[in-house]
Amino acid sequence: MRTDVVVIGAGPAGLLLAHLLAAEGIESIVIEARTKQYVAARIRAGILESASVDLLRAAGLGAGIEAEGEEHRGIYLQWPHERHHLDFTALVGRSVWVYGQTQLQADLVAASEAAGRPVFYDASGAALHDLDSDRPYVTFTDADGNGQRIDALAVAGCDGAFGPSRAAMPDGQRETWERVYPYSWLGILADVPPSTDELIYAWHPDGFALHSMRSATVSRLYLQVPNGTNAADWPDDRIWDTLATRLGHGQDGWRLTPGPITERSVLPMRSFVQSPMSHGRLFLAGDAAHTVPPTGAKGLNLAIADVALLAPALSDLVRDNDAKLADAYSGTALRRVWRAEHFSWWMTTMLHASGDPFDAQLQLSQLRWVTASAAGAAGLAENYTGLPIGF
Ligand code: FAD
Ligand code: PHB
Repeated sequence: MRTDVVVIGAGPAGLLLAHLLAAEGIESIVIEARTKQYVAARIRAGILESASVDLLRAAGLGAGIEAEGEEHRGIYLQWPHERHHLDFTALVGRSVWVYGQTQLQADLVAASEAAGRPVFYDASGAALHDLDSDRPYVTFTDADGNGQRIDALAVAGCDGAFGPSRAAMPDGQRETWERVYPYSWLGILADVPPSTDELIYAWHPDGFALHSMRSATVSRLYLQVPNGTNAADWPDDRIWDTLATRLGHGQDGWRLTPGPITERSVLPMRSFVQSPMSHGRLFLAGDAAHTVPPTGAKGLNLAIADVALLAPALSDLVRDNDAKLADAYSGTALRRVWRAEHFSWWMTTMLHASGDPFDAQLQLSQLRWVTASAAGAAGLAENYTGLPIGF
């Protein structure tokens, strides 16, 4: 087969890139290691920055957000006996949207199918070749066991943290940075209306808790747990009791309503960046190039911001052989990536219990400052709602 751009990975980065390229008249073929059902069912992020929503709307992908998304003006930050609302709209004039990655993924698949764009699901053994030439190609085995080869003008590595694209960069020409955190999140999805109108980020001496949501009837909640935790050791009652303690059930009359848990999983927390984000005709986007701990709600938004920069760069490259934007892509994307890396690390270290009493006092001092000072609050709000794409 032959196309303009081979996209490896049909997550949000890969499918959105294929969509944006098509809008510019650029052909692509997407290959995905998992089945369509598996990709559709993965439960992950839930918050879209306003710049992500603007981009999705401009790309004709806003109908689902309009119908089922919920705009939030801010968040609550709390610690025992205190809860404070940060009003992002008042502070920085921007908001965020609650819209699950599962819903966005469904919108992207629907758009891809409506346009008849080729996606090879269940593709194994993807390998990248001749990336230093201007005729790279990708080989893989399709769902029926047939060997395939796609020749292209560029390869987009949108294959997440464990795909082959990241490793396809020559060893001596890439630099990586990593931070592994000494805790994980136990995440649950529950069929119960949220007990809050906006997200609650709770500092607690026993560990962090987050009350998020997916809709008026579905809640998403997280607990800080030790690394190596087995979700099976957390029966429903233990989860709800721990959430109630950390989220302040009973504090000023607030109540956490428990309900049936429909999914539970443990997520390790990691920060990671690989630079540069391109090599020859290979371009990395989203989790393929970087990972953030989920506390800042940035992972999905960074993937969207990357492909918003990459689509015009690839279309100039492929259509006009103009490499100006393609050459600038890595540097431009990494500026925003590092801002989000810092914000995610900062939110994570401000809110998670480390077991060190000095850390706890610093965290509480920082929380008091971001909730009591307009300057502190505006800094958090500007980062949480997202800096403009290209910042
Ligand atoms: P992905 O969504 O990982 O997509 C990459 C795709 O590439 C996948 O479909 C994968 O199957 C495919 N692939 C991998 N290897 C190959 C191969 N060899 N060949 C072909 N295809 C391949 N972010 C938040 O902001 N909040 C959260 O609560 C949150 N929760 C998360 C929970 C989990 C378990 C994980 C893993 C991530 C979570 N994230 C969260 C991060 C967020 O979901 C990601 O940042 C986002 O999915 C990035 O999109 P992506 O398209 O770059 O990568
Ligand atoms: C989520 O709803 O899954 C979510 C929300 C905010 C975060 C992380 C995850 O910071």
